[in-house]
Amino acid sequence: MKFNQSNIKKAKKYLDKNYCIGVPTETVYGLAANAFSSYAVKKIFKLKKRPKSNPLIVHYSNISDLKNDCLISDEFLKLYKKFCPGPLTFVLHLKKNSKISKIVTNNKKTLAVRFPKHRVFKKLINDLNYPLAAPSANISTKVSAVKASDVKDDFGKKIHYVLDGGKSKIGLESTIIDLTKFPQILRLGGLEVSKIESVLNKKIKININPSKKIAPGQSKLHYSPGIPLRMNALKPKKNEAYLLVKKKKIKSFNYFYLSKKNDLKEAAKNLYSYLRKIKNKGYKSIAVEKIPNIGLGKSINDRLKRASRF
Ligand code: TXA
Ligand code: MG
Repeated sequence: MKFNQSNIKKAKKYLDKNYCIGVPTETVYGLAANAFSSYAVKKIFKLKKRPKSNPLIVHYSNISDLKNDCLISDEFLKLYKKFCPGPLTFVLHLKKNSKISKIVTNNKKTLAVRFPKHRVFKKLINDLNYPLAAPSANISTKVSAVKASDVKDDFGKKIHYVLDGGKSKIGLESTIIDLTKFPQILRLGGLEVSKIESVLNKKIKININPSKKIAPGQSKLHYSPGIPLRMNALKPKKNEAYLLVKKKKIKSFNYFYLSKKNDLKEAAKNLYSYLRKIKNKGYKSIAVEKIPNIGLGKSINDRLKRASRF
């Protein structure tokens, strides 16, 4: 992806005027706005058709800006040093005098924060005097966007600008860890939990389907391609698309391979674009072969499970 300074300037101009724009990150594209401006962030909820009760992640370029808004702990610092910038979101205590709009958090006393690694995103956020609130750039409950054209497909002329940063390298949303009480994982994602455990040197509670929702994004229906999807399928039914990781000898027009090398990382990167592609080709349902529940396979299976509740 060729780096283009004038596009970044353009993006900054829109954000400074409190518009909402599409931005690339290494996980998925975000729908971004000035996190200090209630006027700007209200637009995010409206565009996404997102319930006001579902708070947004705020993106920072550096830890000193974060310290204006949140309290940090030793555990945070350990994880920050190892994994940031990268696909990890922290839920932290919000400071009383923080300038983050109350609309972002739905008046909660906690804030979800992330430091994206994407080169274009970093250039942009370094030039701003405010952090960026940005949920994934898709209509609520639907599949996230991993390319600028996905964002345009979802929002069309409703947004003024999408900053193109090429295809997202990870392709799944960030892993969310809540550090406000004891460390607990609220969402599986682009960073494997085992890697977090080895830095904190302890087993971490996985709380991705709690009876009382902590993260509204834990809702059961999510990431839906808009057509029925079934998992662990041994073969497709007639006229069904078949999504696979591992190359089979059978070649058929309705077989879609997530990876060329039977690699889960590559499969994660391609998952959302294949779900979109299959829907756009006019298939009425999707069968997915059994995906190994190891490493990023766990995050892929989490998304597929929620997508299958259509
Ligand atoms: O990779 C990502 O995290 C992408 C990119 C754009 O950064 N963003 C993303 O945002 O996935 P979104 O809005 O689609 O998902 C954010 C999740 C939601 O499930 C929300 O409920 C949860 O974070 N969340 C936000 N603030 C929270 C808080 N204070 N406590 C608990 N969960 C929170
Ligand atoms: Mg989302």
